[in-house]
Amino acid sequence: MTDTTATSTTPAADPAGTSDRDWWRQAAVYQVYPRSFADIDGDGLGDIAGVTSRVPYLSALGVDAIWLSPFYPSELADGGYDVADYRDVDPKLGTLADFDALVAAAHGAGLKIIVDIVPNHTSDQHVWFQEALAAEPGSPARSRYIFRDGLGDDGDVPPSTWESNFGGSAWTRLTRPDGTPEQWYLHLFAPEQPDLDWSHPEVREDFHTTLRFWSDRGVDGFRVDVAHGLAKDLAEPLRDANPREFGLPIDGSDPLYDRDEVHTIFEGWRRVFDEYDPPRTAVAEAWVARERVSLYARPTELGQAFNFELTRAEFDGPAFRTIVESNLELAAQSGASSTWVLSNHDVVRHPTRYGLPATTDGDAFLLSGGTEPALDEATGLRRARAASLFMLALPGSAYVYQGEELGLFEVADIPADQLQDPVWIRTEHARKGRDGCRVPIPWDTSSPAFGFGEHVAHLPQPAWFADSAVSVEDGDPASTLTLYREALSLRHRLQRGEELAWTDSESADVVHFARHDGWHVVTNFGTAPVALPAGDVLLASGPLESDASGAPVLPGETTVWLSTD
Ligand code: NOJ
Repeated sequence: MTDTTATSTTPAADPAGTSDRDWWRQAAVYQVYPRSFADIDGDGLGDIAGVTSRVPYLSALGVDAIWLSPFYPSELADGGYDVADYRDVDPKLGTLADFDALVAAAHGAGLKIIVDIVPNHTSDQHVWFQEALAAEPGSPARSRYIFRDGLGDDGDVPPSTWESNFGGSAWTRLTRPDGTPEQWYLHLFAPEQPDLDWSHPEVREDFHTTLRFWSDRGVDGFRVDVAHGLAKDLAEPLRDANPREFGLPIDGSDPLYDRDEVHTIFEGWRRVFDEYDPPRTAVAEAWVARERVSLYARPTELGQAFNFELTRAEFDGPAFRTIVESNLELAAQSGASSTWVLSNHDVVRHPTRYGLPATTDGDAFLLSGGTEPALDEATGLRRARAASLFMLALPGSAYVYQGEELGLFEVADIPADQLQDPVWIRTEHARKGRDGCRVPIPWDTSSPAFGFGEHVAHLPQPAWFADSAVSVEDGDPASTLTLYREALSLRHRLQRGEELAWTDSESADVVHFARHDGWHVVTNFGTAPVALPAGDVLLASGPLESDASGAPVLPGETTVWLSTD
């Protein structure tokens, strides 16, 4: 094997990875979905005090930061991404004092805190939307949102063909108390999530206030929801959006998403982040063409953007390598570090994706999908462990979704009457939605709700969670929890520089790269064993074997970390 190509990302501003300003560049960030993490007050919903109670667990796991999905007051029309008040804690989840206690506990344990910010839309319960509902068409209160008259003689045709991401029209018509229909308002997601008009100066200013509010409370960074949606072309007549199956145009010409004007908004946010020392960080959720993701990550804007490509890729060596190469190049262009994501609260958990036939896996938003086709658990978990160990060795930030460290599968059989995701309703039950990856995680087998809380969890936990509870995996050398702990601990020691050098292998199924100081990472994406490259084994995602002659081999669907120093 010979070194052939070297992919170098941005010049490492912080080779040791320790300076506070650059903590995010190579951080392992653990995503907490607060309602499904730990329930201290026993109401069936996870809460902020629950997260605080688990800070020692997260610290021992070896992550660097906690990202909290929304915990703000919300009617939960979309799992908290319908925010009624951006500067408070949902009373169902606790208080601002609880939040301050969490920040103190996390910081005390050396963990950073990232909060989710949802700027594209508010909840319909937000005071601004309530004011808009009470106000007349054309009034200042309505101008913070996107209200339009309907088309057709009676105004009963939606103002445009735009569709909601959750299915159906993106427009909902209002009705006066006396039953008379009036204007329509835009919601790119659920009707309970009206879109803000970001050309309104008050909207822009208010989000600066929110960013300062949380930064002043010690928050270290922000995850920016639907970052690519804020700027819209609302010139009349409203023109059709790009058909989804063709993806977004890379010239920024779609009327709804990824418009060039959006970047001035984030330049303003950067000025706010830079008021702090160290500057607050941000990561964009922007489902846009690969070539344009890095625009959001420029140091003059959010600084980092999610790269979701691994959530959509088959378990395939060439596909993984291409994704890594191209994203490291793009990160280098923007000056950001790359990000890596295998699972989050919006996609099917990766052990399930990899255990389903490939043909069902083209869309990460296939969502829970039900119980057909049957899941091959052994294959799914073996591949997931290999993919995780591959990801955790890449330069850049690794985002780990709660329960991923336990090797949890998607809960695919939640009864229809207990599903919460608006996707289920709005697609008229064609898609089950994302609840299957949001079931409260199992902590121990001897407590109610698997240690999640004293009461039954808000989404039903399956009996098989008992096999993957923290208490069961803790101390088991073969468990996925042990694998993540060892990997994250080694990563702390090894993760330096932002370079990666590829080593060609005899088979395209074998992807091999080297980091600095003789750290080699080899994944066998195929099923047949291959010769194990030279080096001391640091960690492997599954048992290593020997061939008939006693020579060590790397089994199929396995990753190994080696040291050649
Ligand atoms: C992206 C979030 O990750 C998802 O959960 C949410 O439904 C939409 N944005 C709308 O806020």
